[in-house]
Amino acid sequence: MEGGGQRPAPAAPPGQPQGERLQLLLRRSREAKNCAYCPYSRFPVGAALLTAGGEIFSGCNVENACYSLGVCAERTAIQKAISEGHTSFRAMAITSDMGDSFIVPCGACRQVMREFGTDWDIYLTKADGTYIVKRLEELLPLSFGPEDLKKV
Ligand code: THU
Repeated sequence: MEGGGQRPAPAAPPGQPQGERLQLLLRRSREAKNCAYCPYSRFPVGAALLTAGGEIFSGCNVENACYSLGVCAERTAIQKAISEGHTSFRAMAITSDMGDSFIVPCGACRQVMREFGTDWDIYLTKADGTYIVKRLEELLPLSFGPEDLKKV
């Protein structure tokens, strides 16, 4: 029979956070969720963004009585990082209270992420902490970005 023992974990592609760094990113997204301001949806979300330099910026969803002004956790984290001078990102972790489904970013957030490249990883978690990881390219294929504006 093939492979009797445990297989070693496949090596993470270069640039993906691993070990303690990944655990910290996941924890920071859970902690950010605790700050979510979501009295209307009652759907708290947290995000944690890892910069190329190794810093982590977190964010939560921030809703508003004027519903359309609500901002997702992912964009809160990105705006915090950008406004502190960071534009190069390696990964983002996203957390919600959903037990049976992995949280996925909305289309608007995918496009805002894509502004800063297609070559980074998004960790989509369930409430129990399990996760799957997707390349941004997978979440938003055939995307439009800043480079396209230079093609005319
Ligand atoms: N939300 C996020 O913050 N991120 C997601 O990935 C999905 C949805 C927020 C927006 C709104 O405040 C609430 O969750 C319900 O849609």
